[in-house]
Amino acid sequence: MSTPKRYTITAALPYTNGPIHIGHLAGVYVPADIYARYKRLTGNDVAFICGSDEHGVPITIKAKKEGVTPQDIVDKYHKIIKDSFVDFGISLDNYSRTTSKIHHETATEFFKTLFDKGEFIEETTEQLYDAEANQFLADRFIIGTCPKCGNEESYGDQCEKCGTSHNATDLINPKSAITGNVPSLKETKHWFLPLDKHEAFLKEWILKGHKKDWKPNVYGQVKSWIDDGLRPRAVTRDLDWGIPVPVPGGEGKVLYVWFDAPIGYISATKEWAEREGKNWEDYWKKDDTKLVHFIGKDNIVFHCIIFPAMLKAEGSYILPDNVPANEFLNLEGQKLSTSKNWAVWLPDYLQDFPGQQDVLRYTLTANAPESKDNDFTWKDFQARNNNELVAIFGNFINRVVVLTNKYYNGVVPEPSDFSDIDTETLTKLKAYPQVIESSLERYRFREASQELMNVARLGNKYLADEEPWKLIKTDEARTKTIMFVALQIASGLATLCEPFLPFTSTKLKNILCYSTLNKETTWTEVSTQDVLLPANHTIGKGELLFSKIEDEQIQIQLNKLEASKKANEAANKKVEPQKDTIAFDDFTKLDLRVGTIIEAEKMPKAKKLLVLKVDTGIDIRTIVSGIAESFKPEDIIGKQVTVLVNLAPRALRGVESEGMILMTENAEGDLVFVNPDKTGVINGLPIS
Ligand code: MF3
Ligand code: ZN
Repeated sequence: MSTPKRYTITAALPYTNGPIHIGHLAGVYVPADIYARYKRLTGNDVAFICGSDEHGVPITIKAKKEGVTPQDIVDKYHKIIKDSFVDFGISLDNYSRTTSKIHHETATEFFKTLFDKGEFIEETTEQLYDAEANQFLADRFIIGTCPKCGNEESYGDQCEKCGTSHNATDLINPKSAITGNVPSLKETKHWFLPLDKHEAFLKEWILKGHKKDWKPNVYGQVKSWIDDGLRPRAVTRDLDWGIPVPVPGGEGKVLYVWFDAPIGYISATKEWAEREGKNWEDYWKKDDTKLVHFIGKDNIVFHCIIFPAMLKAEGSYILPDNVPANEFLNLEGQKLSTSKNWAVWLPDYLQDFPGQQDVLRYTLTANAPESKDNDFTWKDFQARNNNELVAIFGNFINRVVVLTNKYYNGVVPEPSDFSDIDTETLTKLKAYPQVIESSLERYRFREASQELMNVARLGNKYLADEEPWKLIKTDEARTKTIMFVALQIASGLATLCEPFLPFTSTKLKNILCYSTLNKETTWTEVSTQDVLLPANHTIGKGELLFSKIEDEQIQIQLNKLEASKKANEAANKKVEPQKDTIAFDDFTKLDLRVGTIIEAEKMPKAKKLLVLKVDTGIDIRTIVSGIAESFKPEDIIGKQVTVLVNLAPRALRGVESEGMILMTENAEGDLVFVNPDKTGVINGLPIS
């Protein structure tokens, strides 16, 4: 085990314009939490820091749309997001926000320091301007074609498709996101961080330094960015929502959100340190502190290039030791999307699966998008729960607890001599802390979660092989030893599962009555101690750790997604433009009648056609209609329909069709008859 260290662990500050969904949890917050919990459990000094990212254009756009202030928006979502983190056991030491006073002061100070040191270039350049909206366009106010990958919907500061971060003026065919207008160019003064000036340092630090052990996806993206050549980046904006630029000439301008947000890690640490009586500088300025940023892949350049360049330019800060960015999580084969409501929102999950936070944490970890994008499916979620958490972990604990209560009234029995199998099993248990640790140290959370499950497998196999339920009749002493060994495994699990399944860990510790032991077992002690749960200690009665998730529960979730899909399709449906205007005289040429279908049958060898006999009131005639894929013949006999009776007759597959049945599509896109209601009105039009 490594010697204890000081860790500053950060999780990306979420934009405060909506709740958190499973993609955020899988990509950033669950792995960050596992890491932070594991580091605490192994005796390190940890500051686990996050907060709401409350500036930036998306928040002002949302506020405008809803007719409220940006402050209203961030107040609302700050609370929702903060609650979600508590609900899902994300053990942050501080969750702050970038509209706080301490953050405004810290970011202002940081900017001033760089300004005073001459680290900025001050330049008046032409920027995109929307004359109609009377506003400069930056970041998400502007959409255009990405110069790197050709994505036609890239934002002004970043392309979501290829992850490239660029200047708004680099976009091809830029368009205002406010009015849709093609912007003009207008002069304005801004402050630029000359990344080119830091290129040599960044190359040395990342490419030649020890950063080769960074995840390949992170290292690769950073390398390609540096290889493309670095250019100065504007760190101020012409906006009114943000932190005012604190230097002469900065009136009416604010700091770029990506300049202020990462400084939020520092201000959140300060806030925490003040509260806890600690020195924040230990966590940001001491060389022996390890700084680790947990982020999603769209944040890589900001955390690996721009923020380090800022910290380096300031001069007194440490730089990140690692940035274990994850790829993206998809949902049922499609990209998660807030605007399309293609997501599982944490507050919704909690409502549908109360008390089952660990199931989601486990599924998202076992399937984490660590080295490539990955798919979350509800079927897989169900299988992970039923086949692993219930059938392996829960089953093992349940057997141990039930048998201990049944045979010994809950008292841990005194073992006699260990057999080879016993010793082997206990030795295996002792090896697991290092095994899991080695995965976690390499940020392989999926692998780590599987090793954890292997501890439960070890226990299950041991019980299945040793069969205490048979031996109890013949060999009491041996049964006691077996149960003693099994209880040690259960106890080891209680400690080792804590980073992954914190709620389960607490439950299990309660079942094992840890509160009456002198102390809780530490992570390391699972390796070093021969006895985790001593003989004569009394455990409690069982409560089920996990319960089976039924098909119906999964179907409800799938139905929800199906409803989102339908709503999106309806919203995106292209309505054909109206046909050319016709004269009233043209309309009066149509002879429309209400008729009744009296016979219907399929046209032989034609998939789409039905042959109908229709009573039009003037006659009974044959009409061939292309509706066989939407209606069964037997279902439409007797239906009242609208018929165009003076359409020139036409032969279809040798059957003469004398007219046309009028059809239309309803909101769901299904074909329906244009038929009169009881008052003789067709879709609002009286029939004459
Ligand atoms: N709000 C950003 C996002 O959701 C992340 C900001 S991370 C920080 O993508 F470093 F800027 F804080
Ligand atoms: Zn791109």
